[in-house]
Amino acid sequence: MGTRHDDDPPLYFETHVFVCGNRRPEGHQRGCCASKGAEKIRDYMKARAKELGLTGVRVNQAGCLDRCELGPCAVLYPEGVWYRLDSFEAADKVLDEHIAKGGRARALQLP
Ligand code: FES
Repeated sequence: MGTRHDDDPPLYFETHVFVCGNRRPEGHQRGCCASKGAEKIRDYMKARAKELGLTGVRVNQAGCLDRCELGPCAVLYPEGVWYRLDSFEAADKVLDEHIAKGGRARALQLP
């Protein structure tokens, strides 16, 4: 596992939010996060993080994170915590409970 070393430089971002934006053709057996609204939710989350003045967080679009059936999904690093972001409200909760307050948005966490 990649653990941080004492002589690594400080984290450039305290938290990176990777939101899957993968799109598959209609009818694909695994589905995709884009067809469940992930792009709008990512854009919303990115804008809200800025509006709230949350420094040290970066919301990025990711390719398939391989948990398609549970999506729309996102993973936060360096914590390695996964969430199902199925609404703007879910994005707000993660921003507030996880990023602003340093806790966990337990109800949205993926196993
Ligand atoms: S399509 Fe989003 S995790 Fe695979």
